[in-house]
Amino acid sequence: MLNALILFGGVSSEHDVSVVSAKSVIENIPSDKYNVIMVGISKDGRWFRYSGDVANLPEDKWLEDTAGLTKAVISPDRNDHGILVFEADGVKTIRIDVAFPVLHGKNGEDGTIQGFLQLAGIPFVGCDMLASACCMDKVMTNTLADAAGIPQAKWLGFSSYDYGKNPAEYIDRAADYLGFPIFVKPANAGSSVGVSKADDKEGLAVAIEKAFREDSKLVLEEGIDGIEVECAVMGNEEPVASVCGEVVPCNDFYDFEAKYVNPASELHIPARLSDEKHEEVRAAARNAYKALGCSGLTRVDFFVRKSDGLVMLNEPNTIPGFTSISMYPKMFAASGLPYAELIDRLFTLALEKWEI
Ligand SMILES: Nc1ncnc2c1ncn2[C@@H]1O[C@H](COP(=O)(O)OP(=O)(O)O)[C@@H](O)[C@H]1O
Ligand SMILES: [Mg+2]
Repeated sequence: MLNALILFGGVSSEHDVSVVSAKSVIENIPSDKYNVIMVGISKDGRWFRYSGDVANLPEDKWLEDTAGLTKAVISPDRNDHGILVFEADGVKTIRIDVAFPVLHGKNGEDGTIQGFLQLAGIPFVGCDMLASACCMDKVMTNTLADAAGIPQAKWLGFSSYDYGKNPAEYIDRAADYLGFPIFVKPANAGSSVGVSKADDKEGLAVAIEKAFREDSKLVLEEGIDGIEVECAVMGNEEPVASVCGEVVPCNDFYDFEAKYVNPASELHIPARLSDEKHEEVRAAARNAYKALGCSGLTRVDFFVRKSDGLVMLNEPNTIPGFTSISMYPKMFAASGLPYAELIDRLFTLALEKWEI
């Protein structure tokens, strides 16, 4: 048996998604091979080993189950190779063979926890510190994609400090260079939090203020009129791409409401593309995965532009949603890999990578 650490929650605007993802992951871990150790991080950054019912993860009910909570942290000391649990009668070390940070967004998907696990010498599922950080920050991702010659929307990035010096100049430059509509996004966020579509200069100024509430750095992009297509990629040196999926947002774009609240958004697996276009997206997904230095897993999202069929990168998600209805596990299921086998493969890839 291997001790598998599942990290969930986190100090992130996507905390509430993480606890639901983690519940699904835990319920699908092959129990004949892995012994699950749960460690939850509250929204205000407290760490606990949780030994209660996994059904309590959604809506943070696990934090009310105080009998199941014990303060615990990952030890940076490689000889511990695991977590330190602060029991009433002293500190106990639990060895961890492999970890899965089922954390979305800031402080979980952005290289911070990955760097900590690397320091601790604990193999973990997903991208390493560098790729996680590069894929989290949309300025970095877009810069790397440009350098690799990967087609994407025209874009501009700037900080709140620079914008504050002369907002009108930035608004004019964005309008001239990108044209409307313009998508405004915090450089570091996720789940569409802080993302807006602006149709004119007034709307752009409002959208920029909103995005700055999430992050001090922004990306503005030309609006692409395209089909939103996602591809699940898994692997280290030789990544494999799943069947692609397509999302049809029920709102003007795939905002938070269309993603998680309103069930009217449509998901199609496989995506409604010609066979040739489908293969083109899969190849583009593997290519972007490699160019961005990904390993373990990443969901790579694209637009297929309606006017000419150009396959354009939207963004990589290094720890995509993992709920039972999330695209990543569903796309692999449609490719012949059921959820439990997918999880086992991801752990195996983690152990192989960190053995090298
Ligand atoms: N350049 C763009 N053109 C058209 N739609 C976009 C563009 N950028 C983002 N969107 C829409 O906004 C959604 C959220 O943007 P995205 O970059 O994926 O941010 P997040 O990391 O929050 O998921 C996308 O799923 C898409 O519907
Ligand atoms: Mg997205």
